[in-house]
Amino acid sequence: MTRNVAIIGHPVSHSRSPLIHGYWLARHGIDGAYGVRAVAPGDIDSFLAAFAASGLVGGNVTVPHKEAAFRACAARDAVAEALGAVNTLWLEDGALHGANTDVHGFLANLDAAEPDWARALGEAVVLGAGGAARAVVYGLLQRGVDRVVVANRTRARGEALRDTFGPRVLPIDWRDLGGRLVGCRLLVNTTSLGMKGQPPLDIDLSPLSPDALVTDIVYVPLETPLLKAAKARGLATVDGLGMLLHQAVPGFERWFGVRPEVTAELRALVIADLKA
Ligand code: ATR
Repeated sequence: MTRNVAIIGHPVSHSRSPLIHGYWLARHGIDGAYGVRAVAPGDIDSFLAAFAASGLVGGNVTVPHKEAAFRACAARDAVAEALGAVNTLWLEDGALHGANTDVHGFLANLDAAEPDWARALGEAVVLGAGGAARAVVYGLLQRGVDRVVVANRTRARGEALRDTFGPRVLPIDWRDLGGRLVGCRLLVNTTSLGMKGQPPLDIDLSPLSPDALVTDIVYVPLETPLLKAAKARGLATVDGLGMLLHQAVPGFERWFGVRPEVTAELRALVIADLKA
């Protein structure tokens, strides 16, 4: 019987997850389908409570439902427990289980592009303190980064990250960023600045270490103004599309029993779709 999975969000029509999972289903000849379920915020709790009757064997959850999905699960993996957010669902003995694969996506994307990125890194600087930043900060701490400096427009959100993850997180004011970038070897943008339709992220990259890696979780456009400026300085860059592709891997394996690969062909397929 066809195994049905869907991405659950609001809005969700822009999601590239059906394209990604559809590619893997076809490549592996699996009798499965990956669709889209738009569920309004007022309906999400009842939808998840009746998940077993939805016809789905699992799902991905995106904005703004990751916290509701967390609450709805009977059991969750350790990463989801740490973040308070679930992006991957499956049924086990009729009960809803959840995981968070955003951390895996972030780390695997860096690993694939720059295998040694975490070695003797010291301090990393993260811009932003929203939901995506939580996954990034947690991932960096798990990888043994000494300290994660969090610069955010609203300082209280950076402080909330320190309250959650402890004193290795250092929240700073956005206007103090310049000093913190001196000698910095990893800069991560998790804000929406630089995204199509948003103002660019315009910061002075000259204090960064010459061997710094700059990465952006924004992937529309693929080359954000931040990454363009970093490249112009001769710095290494990693774009955000890989995080999207890699975060999809553990869910596919869980639902369909095959660990799929993030191929150059898949990347090109998604890039073509983003340009369409
Ligand atoms: P996500 O789940 O994608 O992280 P979010 O929780 O809405 O989304 O977080 C968006 C991030 O982008 C936040 O860090 C936000 O800063 P605030 O916490 O101060 O809102 C940041 N951001 C969005 N627009 C911004 C802007 N114009 N200038 C600076 N930061 C901005």
